[in-house]
Amino acid sequence: MSEQLTGNSGKSSGTSTAQPCVIVIFGATGDLTARKLLPAIYNLSRENLLSKSTVVVGFARRPKTDEQFRQEMHDAVNQFSRCKPADETVWNDLAGRIYYHQSPFENADGYRSLARRLEQIDQKHGTQGRRLYYLSTSPAEFGVIIDHLGDAGLGNIDPFNARAWRRVIVEKPFGSNLDTARQLNNRINRTFDESQVFRIDHYLGKQTVQNLLVLRFANGIFEPIWNRRYVDHVQITVGETLGVEGRGGYFETAGTLRDMVQNHLMQLLTLIAMEPPVALDGDAIRDEKVRVLKSIPSYSTQQAAQWTVRGQYSQGENKGMPVKAYRDEERVSPQSTTETYAAVKLYINNWRWQGVPFYLRSGKQMKLQGSEVSIHFNSAPGVLFNTPGSGLARNVLTVRVQPNEGISLLMNAKRPGTVTQIVRAAMDFEYHEAFGSYSPEAYERLLLDAIIGDSTLFIRRDEVEGSWAIIDAIEEAWAANAVELAPYAPGSWGPPQADELLAHDGRAWDPLGGRL
Ligand code: BG6
Repeated sequence: MSEQLTGNSGKSSGTSTAQPCVIVIFGATGDLTARKLLPAIYNLSRENLLSKSTVVVGFARRPKTDEQFRQEMHDAVNQFSRCKPADETVWNDLAGRIYYHQSPFENADGYRSLARRLEQIDQKHGTQGRRLYYLSTSPAEFGVIIDHLGDAGLGNIDPFNARAWRRVIVEKPFGSNLDTARQLNNRINRTFDESQVFRIDHYLGKQTVQNLLVLRFANGIFEPIWNRRYVDHVQITVGETLGVEGRGGYFETAGTLRDMVQNHLMQLLTLIAMEPPVALDGDAIRDEKVRVLKSIPSYSTQQAAQWTVRGQYSQGENKGMPVKAYRDEERVSPQSTTETYAAVKLYINNWRWQGVPFYLRSGKQMKLQGSEVSIHFNSAPGVLFNTPGSGLARNVLTVRVQPNEGISLLMNAKRPGTVTQIVRAAMDFEYHEAFGSYSPEAYERLLLDAIIGDSTLFIRRDEVEGSWAIIDAIEEAWAANAVELAPYAPGSWGPPQADELLAHDGRAWDPLGGRL
């Protein structure tokens, strides 16, 4: 965790140094490398957070020279980096340590020649056998790459070189259900020990998500009321105004439940609901997150029918722009039943949260863009001001993950005047006002942590499997048509069934923004 979060963990990307290593990116000609990974490596270099001997090797199928790859990455940094254009001194220094290795992923020779090349790089740059493999390919290639790395002797920690380490970062999606996630885990663990595996969820790289732990455990006032005695319910929303943006082929195999809820929303949920960890280290924190997942009972078909909503956007307009129906998107079946919206209600059956509903929702083509978590506290007692018909609202603590990162507390206050009129007022903390606009990208933090060897912000095997177990039960009920696929208009907040889900419990979704 970061310097401020080190506490008794002893490890931190703020205090540990990044040792020289080789970052081998599989799928180096893909979008993620250009948009996120190289800009992140460049920004970390610019801020002197990486060793000046850090080397990048792009591994992909297409023939390309080192020079061509460097040029493409230079263009990518100029286009996608949060600081652009690139500082040419920083870039030229980094570019001299960028290489390209061409091979099909399924070709054993390509890994043997990679091994020879990495040894030469060790000689030249002093990287001492330290390797960070980044699987940025389609998930269908993950297994084959891992197997070949193992066969080429690139996975094991070298017993004769105490300084060497080998780590692998695996991108999402990690499996498509519990079974496939387990198979992939087993396959990875044949070559890499769990301590070498870094499963990524870029939400954990976001500053505000990391701040959830600080909010809860660096302040004395929240934890005493963070439980069923004081909390009425919790809402987690991740709304996106965009559609599937050319990713129809992938989305057809996923849907919002797998694409967003299984990972990003579940991560937010576990951070909000977990018990205080015994330390701020990777295992202590992830132990607590796993306990939350284990406390969520599996949905019966009947519960899935009552407590989940699935929707798909139809043709319409969003923000004044015409939107075609999801079914008309490229590489999407005209009869597709894939959801682009999901809402679920779940309970965490433990001492702290028993009986408190957690409502989660996420959708494409929503009215507003934004991710936030809000804790709705119990109403004031029904005497004095909170009398029948007074309409006195509950206190709500909202953590805005993005945009306008910050925290708001909604309260009831007296409007100035000669009569007592009670209105909603917000206490507002905005990140950019407090700290300026500097905010590293999620991938910067995550890459640095992996190089340092801090796995706190990565998903452990039991976490990914625990989350799939919950999602699988919903998917099964949906596959059996226990829940109708409801159409919704682009620019809305999803199908009316999602409002009914909360209305049935006498509640309503928050307007995004956490203010008034
Ligand atoms: C990705 C999903 O994991 O997260 C995308 O595959 C989604 O469908 C994206 O758009 C959202 O991330 P962010 O950081 O923009 O909220």
